[in-house]
Amino acid sequence: MKELIIIIRPEKLEDVKDVLDKVHCGGMTLSTAMGCGTQKGSSEGSVNEIKGLKTTINLLPKIKVEVVVDDKDVDTVIMNIREVCATDHVGDGKIFIRSIDDAVRIRTGERGLKAL
Ligand SMILES: Nc1ncnc2c1ncn2[C@@H]1O[C@H](COP(=O)(O)OP(=O)(O)OP(=O)(O)O)[C@@H](O)[C@H]1O
Ligand SMILES: [Mg+2]
Repeated sequence: MKELIIIIRPEKLEDVKDVLDKVHCGGMTLSTAMGCGTQKGSSEGSVNEIKGLKTTINLLPKIKVEVVVDDKDVDTVIMNIREVCATDHVGDGKIFIRSIDDAVRIRTGERGLKAL
Protein backbone atom coordinates (compact mmCIF):
# COMPACT_ATOMS: atom_id res chain seq x y z
CA MET A 1 0.00 0.00 0.00
CA LYS A 2 1.08 3.54 -0.68
CA GLU A 3 -0.16 6.84 0.67
CA LEU A 4 -0.38 9.57 -1.92
CA ILE A 5 -0.29 13.08 -0.54
CA ILE A 6 -1.68 15.13 -3.38
CA ILE A 7 -1.40 18.92 -3.22
CA ILE A 8 -3.48 20.67 -5.86
CA ARG A 9 -5.03 23.94 -6.90
CA PRO A 10 -8.43 24.26 -5.12
CA GLU A 11 -10.31 24.49 -8.43
CA LYS A 12 -9.06 21.02 -9.39
CA LEU A 13 -10.65 19.26 -6.42
CA GLU A 14 -13.72 17.89 -8.22
CA ASP A 15 -11.55 16.46 -11.02
CA VAL A 16 -9.22 14.83 -8.50
CA LYS A 17 -12.17 13.32 -6.61
CA ASP A 18 -13.41 11.82 -9.90
CA VAL A 19 -9.97 10.31 -10.59
CA LEU A 20 -9.87 8.69 -7.15
CA ASP A 21 -13.45 7.46 -7.47
CA LYS A 22 -12.55 5.71 -10.75
CA VAL A 23 -9.86 3.59 -9.07
CA HIS A 24 -12.41 2.69 -6.37
CA CYS A 25 -10.27 4.05 -3.59
CA GLY A 26 -11.89 3.15 -0.28
CA GLY A 27 -11.76 6.67 1.07
CA MET A 28 -9.80 9.87 1.19
CA THR A 29 -8.92 12.65 3.62
CA LEU A 30 -8.98 16.26 2.56
CA SER A 31 -7.59 19.39 4.16
CA THR A 32 -7.33 22.95 3.10
CA ALA A 33 -3.75 24.15 3.21
CA MET A 34 -1.52 27.10 2.50
CA GLY A 35 1.72 26.47 0.69
CA CYS A 36 4.39 27.48 -1.74
CA GLY A 37 6.78 25.74 -4.06
CA THR A 38 10.00 26.83 -5.66
CA GLN A 39 8.63 30.25 -6.66
CA LYS A 40 7.80 30.95 -2.99
CA GLY A 41 4.31 31.91 -4.05
CA SER A 42 5.25 34.81 -6.23
CA SER A 43 7.93 36.31 -8.42
CA GLU A 44 11.38 36.31 -6.90
CA GLY A 45 12.25 39.15 -4.57
CA SER A 46 8.76 40.51 -4.07
CA VAL A 47 7.73 41.27 -0.52
CA ASN A 48 4.43 40.05 0.86
CA GLU A 49 2.65 40.35 4.17
CA ILE A 50 1.24 37.50 6.26
CA LYS A 51 -0.68 38.63 9.35
CA GLY A 52 1.27 41.87 9.45
CA LEU A 53 4.62 40.11 9.17
CA LYS A 54 6.72 41.14 6.19
CA THR A 55 8.04 38.12 4.35
CA THR A 56 9.47 37.25 0.99
CA ILE A 57 7.43 34.06 1.00
CA ASN A 58 3.80 34.20 -0.08
CA LEU A 59 1.65 31.20 0.85
CA LEU A 60 -1.15 30.39 -1.56
CA PRO A 61 -4.32 28.40 -0.83
CA LYS A 62 -4.04 24.75 -1.82
CA ILE A 63 -5.99 21.56 -1.19
CA LYS A 64 -4.25 18.52 0.28
CA VAL A 65 -5.78 15.13 -0.43
CA GLU A 66 -4.41 12.07 1.36
CA VAL A 67 -5.34 8.68 -0.01
CA VAL A 68 -4.00 5.19 0.63
CA VAL A 69 -4.18 2.91 -2.39
CA ASP A 70 -3.11 -0.53 -3.55
CA ASP A 71 0.45 -0.47 -5.00
CA LYS A 72 -0.96 -1.55 -8.36
CA ASP A 73 -3.09 1.62 -8.60
CA VAL A 74 -0.33 4.13 -7.86
CA ASP A 75 0.83 4.75 -11.43
CA THR A 76 -2.72 5.03 -12.76
CA VAL A 77 -3.63 7.58 -10.11
CA ILE A 78 -0.51 9.63 -10.75
CA MET A 79 -1.06 9.61 -14.51
CA ASN A 80 -4.73 10.58 -14.21
CA ILE A 81 -4.07 13.30 -11.63
CA ARG A 82 -1.46 14.80 -13.94
CA GLU A 83 -3.92 14.62 -16.80
CA VAL A 84 -6.53 16.73 -14.97
CA CYS A 85 -4.22 19.01 -12.94
CA ALA A 86 -1.37 19.91 -15.29
CA THR A 87 -1.94 23.37 -16.77
CA ASP A 88 1.61 24.03 -17.97
CA HIS A 89 1.82 26.90 -15.46
CA VAL A 90 3.77 26.97 -12.22
CA GLY A 91 1.84 26.00 -9.10
CA ASP A 92 0.02 22.93 -10.45
CA GLY A 93 0.97 21.03 -7.31
CA LYS A 94 2.80 17.94 -6.23
CA ILE A 95 2.30 14.32 -5.25
CA PHE A 96 4.31 12.81 -2.40
CA ILE A 97 4.32 9.04 -2.05
CA ARG A 98 5.04 7.01 1.05
CA SER A 99 4.82 3.35 1.96
CA ILE A 100 2.14 2.22 4.36
CA ASP A 101 2.86 -0.91 6.41
CA ASP A 102 -0.66 -1.84 7.38
CA ALA A 103 -4.19 -0.57 7.86
CA VAL A 104 -7.04 -1.52 10.15
CA ARG A 105 -10.76 -1.03 9.61
CA ILE A 106 -11.77 -0.22 13.15
CA ARG A 107 -15.32 -1.61 12.87
CA THR A 108 -14.36 -5.09 11.66
CA GLY A 109 -10.68 -5.50 12.45
CA GLU A 110 -9.86 -6.19 8.77
CA ARG A 111 -6.22 -5.58 7.92
CA GLY A 112 -4.13 -4.53 4.94
CA LEU A 113 -5.77 -4.06 1.55
CA LYS A 114 -9.06 -5.38 2.95
CA ALA A 115 -9.15 -2.42 5.30
CA LEU A 116 -8.94 0.20 2.54
N1 LIG B 1 9.03 20.34 -1.16
C1 LIG B 1 7.78 20.52 -0.76
N2 LIG B 1 7.41 20.14 0.46
C2 LIG B 1 6.14 20.29 0.90
N3 LIG B 1 5.16 20.82 0.15
C3 LIG B 1 5.49 21.23 -1.09
C4 LIG B 1 6.80 21.11 -1.60
N4 LIG B 1 6.80 21.59 -2.86
C5 LIG B 1 5.55 21.98 -3.12
N5 LIG B 1 4.76 21.77 -2.04
C6 LIG B 1 3.34 22.06 -1.94
O1 LIG B 1 2.80 21.98 -3.26
C7 LIG B 1 2.18 23.21 -3.61
C8 LIG B 1 2.38 23.45 -5.08
O2 LIG B 1 3.75 23.46 -5.38
P1 LIG B 1 4.22 23.88 -6.83
O3 LIG B 1 3.37 23.20 -7.83
O4 LIG B 1 4.29 25.37 -6.92
O5 LIG B 1 5.68 23.23 -6.83
P2 LIG B 1 6.97 23.73 -7.63
O6 LIG B 1 8.09 22.85 -7.22
O7 LIG B 1 7.15 25.19 -7.40
O8 LIG B 1 6.61 23.41 -9.15
P3 LIG B 1 6.28 24.50 -10.29
O9 LIG B 1 7.61 25.04 -10.73
O10 LIG B 1 5.58 23.73 -11.34
O11 LIG B 1 5.40 25.54 -9.68
C9 LIG B 1 2.85 24.23 -2.71
O12 LIG B 1 2.02 25.36 -2.52
C10 LIG B 1 3.05 23.45 -1.43
O13 LIG B 1 1.83 23.40 -0.71
MG1 LIG C 1 5.67 26.55 -7.88
